[in-house]
Amino acid sequence: MKVLCVFGTRPEAIKMAPVVNAVARDSAITGATCVTGQHRAMLDQVLDLFDITPDYDLAVMAPNQTLNSLTSRVITGLDAVLEEVRPDCVLVHGDTTSAMAASLAAFHRGIKIGHVEAGLRTYDLSRPWPEEMNRRVIDVVSSLAFAPTASSAENLEREHLGGRIIVTGNTVIDALTETAGRIGKDASLRKTLEERFSFINPARRLVLVTGHRRESFGGGFVNICKALARLSERDDIEIVYPVHLNPNVSGPVHELLGALENVHLIDPLAYLDFVYLMTRADIILTDSGGVQEEAPSLGKPVLVMRDVTERPEAVAAGAVMLVGTEPERIVTETERLLDEATHYQSFARAINPYGDGKAAGRIADTLAGRPVSPFDPRAAR
Ligand code: UD1
Ligand code: UDP
Repeated sequence: MKVLCVFGTRPEAIKMAPVVNAVARDSAITGATCVTGQHRAMLDQVLDLFDITPDYDLAVMAPNQTLNSLTSRVITGLDAVLEEVRPDCVLVHGDTTSAMAASLAAFHRGIKIGHVEAGLRTYDLSRPWPEEMNRRVIDVVSSLAFAPTASSAENLEREHLGGRIIVTGNTVIDALTETAGRIGKDASLRKTLEERFSFINPARRLVLVTGHRRESFGGGFVNICKALARLSERDDIEIVYPVHLNPNVSGPVHELLGALENVHLIDPLAYLDFVYLMTRADIILTDSGGVQEEAPSLGKPVLVMRDVTERPEAVAAGAVMLVGTEPERIVTETERLLDEATHYQSFARAINPYGDGKAAGRIADTLAGRPVSPFDPRAAR
């Protein structure tokens, strides 16, 4: 079984790293890795941390790239790699343009596709945009669907998509468990991280922020920044915001928040550093998919600055709340968490609806033809 793992952005790299490593360790599988380079700096940070040297790098990133130019560069670039490698199976992850274009390139060559993180849905093609379309296209052409949870598997069953469906848990919990474990075990690493973030006032509560969704460009980001500016008027919090490199994000964020004393706008963090900051945070404000999955596992309350989510499990469990992008709601819900201890405690319970740290092993077992017992969140508590 010859498997080619293809990915190109930061979140795909974090979530595929455990799979790349599990495939590499498995004597029943021959693995190869192709990065599209849809992200450059933010991808390379992850490759360094997990010690992955790709066999192929399509290096497609262009400043402020358009979806069509990106799609065409990935399809053309990957086609030549598929011709050379001739894999039995191409593994893609999630819902990015890299993943969608790679799945089409494999489909056009009659190569079997395995979709890691299959079956997530909002059923609204405009939110998240274009990801909801990407993930549906990938599920149409896949014959192995690695669904992270029972509800994502149910979506696929209802739609009669994805071929064989295996509930694996989300590989992000594998990456998080390994990385948090590394920090937990190494006192000198913790000291280095403490020193690196010594600019954060430890006497104040830490609000960690990320945001990058395309459907929030323009007015949505202005609103998010207005909410953060209002929150920064409190003298008992520090806001740390590693700003995404997309110019449609970094432009307005720096313009609207750059001058505020307790708002720290910093470059995107390496995953190890970001995991450390999540463990230190009191509250996380985000529109990220991956952070919505990681923070509940660390027992950190999350306010999601979106109106809908394809990750309903932690919302149902009461660890995540959708607050949209209107400033009033973001400020009110953040202040409730800051000021009402019982409300805070009801959110800050460590739960693992998304994975048990063994997802990559289940994926490798499936590819190697070994039996797999599905992820069961009740056993992961
Ligand atoms: C992409 C994905 C999104 C995912 C997000 C994770 C698509 C359409 N979007 O969005 O699903 O949630 O990544 O972060 O696939 N840039 C850099 N250096 C980098 C990364 C980005 O300079 O390391 C800048 C470039 O100008 C680039 C722009 O950001 O053109 C946009 O990158 P792109 O990957 O197209 O979109 P994202 O918003 O990052
Ligand atoms: N992350 C990181 N550095 C940062 C911000 C986030 O390593 O400065 C990690 C985060 O822990 C999560 C992933 O990046 O695993 C999420 O990526 P992003 O929000 O860019 O994409 P999404 O998950 O929304 O597709």
